[in-house]
Amino acid sequence: MQGIKMRIKELEPGMVLMDDIYCPQTGILLLKAGTVLRRALLRALQKNNPDLYCYACRSSAISRNEEILAVKADPAAAENLSLEEVSGKENWENRPLFPPGFVDREAGEIYAQACRVFNKIYSGRKIKPYLRELYNVIESLVGKLLIHPEMMIYVALLKKIDNSTFSHAVNVCVFSAFLGKVAGIKEPLLKELALAGIMHDIGKMDIPVEIWRKKGRLTLLEFNKVKEHSLYSYFRLANIDQVDMQTLMGVLQHHERLDGSGYPHGLKNDELHLWSKILGIADVFDAYTSERSYRKAYSYHQGLEHLRQNSARFDSKLLNIFIRSLSFFPIGSRVLLNTGENGIVMGIHKHYPYRPIIRVAKKDGSGEKLIDLAESRSVFIEKLL
Ligand SMILES: [Fe+2]
Repeated sequence: MQGIKMRIKELEPGMVLMDDIYCPQTGILLLKAGTVLRRALLRALQKNNPDLYCYACRSSAISRNEEILAVKADPAAAENLSLEEVSGKENWENRPLFPPGFVDREAGEIYAQACRVFNKIYSGRKIKPYLRELYNVIESLVGKLLIHPEMMIYVALLKKIDNSTFSHAVNVCVFSAFLGKVAGIKEPLLKELALAGIMHDIGKMDIPVEIWRKKGRLTLLEFNKVKEHSLYSYFRLANIDQVDMQTLMGVLQHHERLDGSGYPHGLKNDELHLWSKILGIADVFDAYTSERSYRKAYSYHQGLEHLRQNSARFDSKLLNIFIRSLSFFPIGSRVLLNTGENGIVMGIHKHYPYRPIIRVAKKDGSGEKLIDLAESRSVFIEKLL
């Protein structure tokens, strides 16, 4: 083994790790051998695990190379990194979030409240003071999702009226909890998954804002700094007692991909935690269906198609569930209503795809009737049969 054995608190910026570092509390792989310890990363590591021993050496060659090399702004990478997002100037108190006539005010208010709480955390650069508020809003969001899943999804898709870091966080929260629910995860774990969803990118606030705002090409150094954000998300949450290990794993690995093409560690297949597989699908779907300065938002159907075309990168079972569940009840499909009735989708409202017109048999056996879910608000689709 090359390098010097030393405590993490003794490391200096620019040093290179010579062996992997695992979190002593959780056993999670944090940093791989070969990682260059840039200042911000080292600060986060020293704050969390100052007395841990590791092997490291001094090397300026690696970081100098990073300065010289440049990467072309790759659209696929940009989707994944959700660049150009941080403005920090949104005023959530005065902004109307939803168009008039929106069908469910409660879902809209929960969504807006989640954005407000996230805004406070992001602006205040602290999580703990807002933890209770965060858990409260997640409780409401998951509660709503369990009763009216289509409504929370619908609200998340409407986010295109306001594209920001905050709505991305809440959308990933909604899509992750939704995918977790349809994949069979039950409460209270679903709330933890939702927490991982809303906090997955919180480490972005540790990346210099000039990098997020930079137009055009990033240097390799900048690119690598951006890719550290999932580590910062992990470090920020690992300091909080209430946050469990699954949430930490999900957050740390949310950019890892099954084919090994992800980061920070290039993990493969079952090396990825279930929650990171869920977060990854939700994150990419939302990035793709969000507006960028260089393109309009893709439709949710295009978003699903994009996921399908990149299926080697995602867990196939979860991806199929997600695509099937968001395919919005095509005409002719059989569905189970919360009333216990089976029905067939007969028509879809352009603006309310989650609330189609259903044909069901009358209970007295005297024929069939149509239920328009856009009008019968207490009735909703439990699942696709
Ligand atoms: Fe991310």
